[in-house]
Amino acid sequence: MNEFAVALDRYPAYVHDLPGLEAHVRGIRAALPGTEVFYAAKANPDAEILRTVAPHIDGVEVSSGGELAHVRETLPGKPVAFGGPGKTDDELALSRTLNAERIHVESPNELARLAALGPADVLLRANLPLHVPNAALTMSGPFGMDEDALDHCARLLASYPHLKLRGIHAHLASGLDAPVMLDLAHRIAEWAIPWLRARGVDDPELNVGGGMAVDYTSPETRFDWHTYGTGLSGIPAKVRIEPGRAMTAYHGWYVTDVLDVKTTRGETFVVLRGGTHHLRTPVTKGHDQPFKVLTAQGPERPATLVGQLCTPKDVFARDALVPPLAPGDVIAFTMAGAYAWNISHHDFLMHPKPAFHYRR
Ligand SMILES: Cc1ncc(COP(=O)(O)O)c(C=O)c1O
Repeated sequence: MNEFAVALDRYPAYVHDLPGLEAHVRGIRAALPGTEVFYAAKANPDAEILRTVAPHIDGVEVSSGGELAHVRETLPGKPVAFGGPGKTDDELALSRTLNAERIHVESPNELARLAALGPADVLLRANLPLHVPNAALTMSGPFGMDEDALDHCARLLASYPHLKLRGIHAHLASGLDAPVMLDLAHRIAEWAIPWLRARGVDDPELNVGGGMAVDYTSPETRFDWHTYGTGLSGIPAKVRIEPGRAMTAYHGWYVTDVLDVKTTRGETFVVLRGGTHHLRTPVTKGHDQPFKVLTAQGPERPATLVGQLCTPKDVFARDALVPPLAPGDVIAFTMAGAYAWNISHHDFLMHPKPAFHYRR
C-alpha cells in the first residue's frame, strides 16, 4: 500500500484495494451460511466496489430511485430491496419498471401509493420499541412503523391481493457488536414471526438490517461475523441482513500530501491538500480518522490535521501523534471505503476532485 500510494501522480486520491475487499466479503459470506446478505449500497455505491462484492452477496439494498437505477445498471440480475423513507411516486413507479424484488414499505400511505401501481412483494418496515444498549445511532422517529401502523398496513393488504406480504424489515440501530446485534435480531424475530404467521405469511422473511460495528479507534478490529452468523441460523425464518459500513470501510484510503505546517498559540496544525469535502466521515461521526504517515519518521508530537476548507470543522484528526512533517509529506487516511466520498459536500469551495485508483 505504502509504495503504491506514494507513487500516485497527484493528490488527493482515493485508493481502493479490490482484492482485499473481495477477500473480506468472501469471509463474511462464509460466516453466514443460510443467511441472505444484501449489501447496503448507500455505504459506497462505486461501480468497481459493487462489482467486487457482487459474487459474494445475495442482493443489494437501495434507498433511492438513483441507487436503484445505478445498481440495476451495474449489476443486472442481482436482486434489489428498495427501502428508505419518503419514496416519491416516481421512485415507486421506477421500482415497478425495474422489477425491484422487494419493497420495504415505510407507511400506510406509501403502501396505498404502491398498491396503485400493480403487483409487488413487500416487507413492512417495523420501528419496534426495543432497547439497544451502546448504539452509535438508533433509527427511531420517522423510520418504519409502530405496531398500530403495521396493523393498519395489514388491514390494507387484505384489500390489495396483488401486493404480497413477505415479511418484516427492521433496521433499528447501528454501531453494534455481534452479541448485541444477535440479541436484537432474536427480539425482532420473537415479535415478527408470530405477527406475520397470524396474518397468513407461512414462509416469513426477516430483514434485520445493517449497523454492524466499525471501530475507528481500533482499525484492526472486525465485527464477529462468525458469532453473528451462527446465532442467526437459529431463527426460524428466512433471515436477511443488509450491512454497509462493515463491508466496505476497511479497504479504502484517502491519500494526500501536506501543504503547510504551522504553530498557532502552541497548537500545531498540519494543513493537507483536500479536506472533509472529500472525506466527510470524521466530521459526520465525530471521530479522528485513523491514518498512516507514509513518508516521514521521527519522534512523534501532537498535531491537528486539517484540510483546505474555510471552516474550523474541516478537521480529520485532533491532537494526533505525528512525526516531524513538512510540505510534500504524504498521509493516507485509512478506513475510508464507506460513507466517505459519497457522503461528502464535494463542491464546497470548488477545489479539484480527488483522483480514484483501484488496486486489482
Ligand atoms: C435501512 C438501512 N439498512 C442498512 C443500512 C446500512 O447500515 P451500516 O452501513 O451501518 O451497516 C442503513 C444505514 O443507514 C439503513 O438505513
